[in-house]
Amino acid sequence: MADTKIYQASTTAPVNIAVVKYWGKRDPKLNLPTNSSVSVTLSQSDLRTHTTAACSSSFPQSDTLLLNSENQDTSGARTQACFRELRFLRSSIEAADPFLPKLSALPLKIVSENNFPTAAGLASSAAGFAALVRAIANLYELPASPTELSRIARQGSGSACRSLFGGYVAWQMGTKTDGSDSLAVEVAPASHWPTMRALILVVSAEKKGVSSTSGMQITVATSELFQRRAEVVVPKHMAEMEEAIRNKDFEKFGQVTMKESNSFHAVCLDTFPPIFYLNDVSKAAIRVVEDINKKAGKTIAAYTFDAGPNAVIYYEEENIAVVAGVVKGALGHLDGWESRDISAQEAGDLDSRAVSVLKDGVSRVILTQVGEGPVKTEESLIGADGEPIK
Ligand code: DP6
Repeated sequence: MADTKIYQASTTAPVNIAVVKYWGKRDPKLNLPTNSSVSVTLSQSDLRTHTTAACSSSFPQSDTLLLNSENQDTSGARTQACFRELRFLRSSIEAADPFLPKLSALPLKIVSENNFPTAAGLASSAAGFAALVRAIANLYELPASPTELSRIARQGSGSACRSLFGGYVAWQMGTKTDGSDSLAVEVAPASHWPTMRALILVVSAEKKGVSSTSGMQITVATSELFQRRAEVVVPKHMAEMEEAIRNKDFEKFGQVTMKESNSFHAVCLDTFPPIFYLNDVSKAAIRVVEDINKKAGKTIAAYTFDAGPNAVIYYEEENIAVVAGVVKGALGHLDGWESRDISAQEAGDLDSRAVSVLKDGVSRVILTQVGEGPVKTEESLIGADGEPIK
């Protein structure tokens, strides 16, 4: 009798926010970067993608992907590359063991949910592709390590390769043309430096303007500053950042994080035509962080921005009152503050113009911290009938 069983596996995967930025591809098809990068994985209690991967001969013949209840196109080269690579690994173990069900030949049904706005510049593609790859690897019972899977997730979205690990993660750019050495590795687990916190100021939950994929292509083609960044600035920042993480040296960590963000946005401005991801609200967030650090007499808070205006402010738990508390005092009540017990502090030392721009422009906050990598879960998004659970 034909096997119509529904095979399935589920996982959650985290968002990561880079402190040494990936910007530029030497191979756009394989997502091979022009420089290495480092990120902090954020807690899945606040930001995560939950994905169930299933396969069955009873499913429609083509692979499907449902994200937040909406059908997604799976014919794109990136999703196809992930499916192809994972099926190839499964078929190799099937070839070695004839008793294994031939899952690699079955259509895939993927159902995925984010607990945060998709494409708001909150690294949703990173969590999304990491969860997709991890869920299918679990479904196929692949013996692959997170580093091996990072090679596949990278082809979905570059930054996704870093979301296969928790804690502090480096993506080593590699030099080979086939991308086999362009992989993510753990710099340190979350437990090494568990006091790292992040305050995200959501400036816009709208879909972003210039996508990272096209933005970085135009940068590579037109910016002269970019070359110096890739060859000189980033290698220096990589070494400094890895050392700062190893030594749990927040001052160093914070300074490199801010310089990196500035360097990345400088090459965006040097792109022709220029790309502007930072807006006046982002600049007000920079000003507020500078004022907080000035008052403390050292770097206790560090801003960073990706391909959008949202600010991510890293700080250590011991400074919660003088960083998050002060920002809360300045902004007043906004969605998100209730998620953690942080009391508002007097914000008198902050630039009043910056505070008023922030008040008008920030729609919500997300209070989070360093967290763990993908977690296998029994909670499925696909029912016994093979249909998505509503
Ligand atoms: C600014 O990983 O989204 O967030 O590989 O084209 O999918 P693709 O790009 P993506 O770029 C992220 C860029 C960044 C910096 C970073 O995360 O390192």
